[in-house]
Amino acid sequence: MRERLLSLKDEALQELEQVQSAAELNELRIKYLGKKGPLTEIMRGMGGLSAEERPVIGQVANEVRGAIEAAVQARQDAFDRAETERRLQQEKIDVTLPGRVSKQGGIHPLYRIVQKMEDIFLGMGYKVAEGPEMEQDYYNFEALNLPKNHPARDMQDSFYVTEDILMRTHTSPVQVRTMEAMKGEVPVKIICPGRVYRRDNDDATHSHVFTQVEGLVVGPNIRFSDLKGTLLQFAKEMFGPQTQIRMRPSFFPFTEPSAEVDVTCASCGGDGCRICKHTGWIEILGSGMVHPRVLQMAGYDPNEVSGFAFGIGVERIAMKKYGIDDIRHFYVNDLRFLRQFAKY
Ligand code: PHE
Repeated sequence: MRERLLSLKDEALQELEQVQSAAELNELRIKYLGKKGPLTEIMRGMGGLSAEERPVIGQVANEVRGAIEAAVQARQDAFDRAETERRLQQEKIDVTLPGRVSKQGGIHPLYRIVQKMEDIFLGMGYKVAEGPEMEQDYYNFEALNLPKNHPARDMQDSFYVTEDILMRTHTSPVQVRTMEAMKGEVPVKIICPGRVYRRDNDDATHSHVFTQVEGLVVGPNIRFSDLKGTLLQFAKEMFGPQTQIRMRPSFFPFTEPSAEVDVTCASCGGDGCRICKHTGWIEILGSGMVHPRVLQMAGYDPNEVSGFAFGIGVERIAMKKYGIDDIRHFYVNDLRFLRQFAKY
């Protein structure tokens, strides 16, 4: 029995020596040390031994088992070490390599100006309103005192979609929509930023799509001086405290009286330069007192309330503020252009 045990040990150790993988090792472990293995079988047979033999053989059997277990463990450790080594090699990272910069977008210069305007007017108690870019003729023209065949419609050459639907030529239809929705309530105090469309040949200063911010205030006793004060305050916050405004008489069918508003040129401070075409002034908006007929059509009584309105050209302001010489830069999305504003 002793011989059997010792040769079993030799056999096991030899086989363990040859083992190639952790899976094979596991098979051998079961083969020699498992419940159905030869060692267990020999131990069971020990019942038939004499009382003197039993402890001697028992000791040998324990030694053999111990030796096989130790060999299995040693091989297992070797496999584990090799595996750890392999993973370390494979998952090695070089912490000295430069990191990957994730590119961040910036806010478009036009939208920056819109945001700034919203800030200024929200600070004066205005709310932001919106309306559709594809508009009914009624809201774009008729309710603004521009009946069909009115010659002033030519001021705003339009893209018609159908007989009655067009791309809005200005943000003024939102005035009408807002007043209608307010159903005669006062005060109305809104601005409406948005895109507008006109048939125009694109060049350095014209674009068939551009951006306006409309403003409307309606309430009892709203006067021209309120309009002037509001626009002066806006100009100072937009361009700096030294800015002055100038109002020139003008005509819009939906305001009476009407005025075009210029601000002092920030480049030359009003002395005259290339940017302001040597006038010292730059035109930025149209404005006026809301025409009584417009109030009436939108459900307000012109004997009870009055109002003022203005429409600011956003591109004009952005070009002036950032010194941009061609309006087309805003729309072609050239990253070299846009990146310059990413951190403004
Ligand atoms: N809607 C006018 C335009 O686009 C601007 C304007 C708005 C004028 C409000 C007066 C009052 O030319």
